[in-house]
Amino acid sequence: MIDIHSHVLPGIDDGSSDITMSLTMLKESRRQGVTDMFLTPHFYADMNDPQKFLQKRQDAAQALSEYLESNPEAFPRCILGAEVHYFRGIGKSEDISKLTLGRSRYILLEPTFRTWTPAFLEDVRILRDEQDLKVVIAHIERYLDQDKHLVRELIEEEDVYIQSNSEAFLERWSRKKVLKMLEGGKIHFLGSDCHNLTERRPNLREGRKVIEEKLGKEYLDAIDQRGQRLLAAAR
Ligand SMILES: [Fe+2]
Repeated sequence: MIDIHSHVLPGIDDGSSDITMSLTMLKESRRQGVTDMFLTPHFYADMNDPQKFLQKRQDAAQALSEYLESNPEAFPRCILGAEVHYFRGIGKSEDISKLTLGRSRYILLEPTFRTWTPAFLEDVRILRDEQDLKVVIAHIERYLDQDKHLVRELIEEEDVYIQSNSEAFLERWSRKKVLKMLEGGKIHFLGSDCHNLTERRPNLREGRKVIEEKLGKEYLDAIDQRGQRLLAAAR
């Protein structure tokens, strides 16, 4: 079981505040069955340049690593990544490919929460076509009330991948919508997007349980196979 979206690294964003919280989040994820976890702190281009971000991420990972190595069975294997917040012109940003998931060409892109424009789709296409990146759109459920045409275009776009949070399968307002999308082959990856141990805690297993009950295990198998391919590219 692979969690491709999490804010577990300590003290780097609005996720885990310290090492103790990070270790507890990781232990809880492992208990739920997560074997591999991408650690994807927020990257905001207006607050950080990629180089500084990567240094901060490395420092945070270093602080955790001795604890993880002392008891590897207790935690998922961790791979470094980022949740890259969209900005106009990201397609042309040369450093952006340093922020992929592990060593892969997959990049977790968080769209804007403001009104989408065609320029956003254009940037996604440039990332794919000119930078040879595999764009994974983070937590699609948060954008389903954006312009319907743009959302549809994005979802139908070739070689653009869609991630949904486990929570979307648990909440009444979103459950039907994401189940329908998953059934139609429009959701490719799952993540917990966990930030802490309270209101945004590790919850991947619960969302998967809903998927298994409502759609059947084969949908989880397809997600897991795609996750394994991502993992193989990331290592
Ligand atoms: Fe996130």
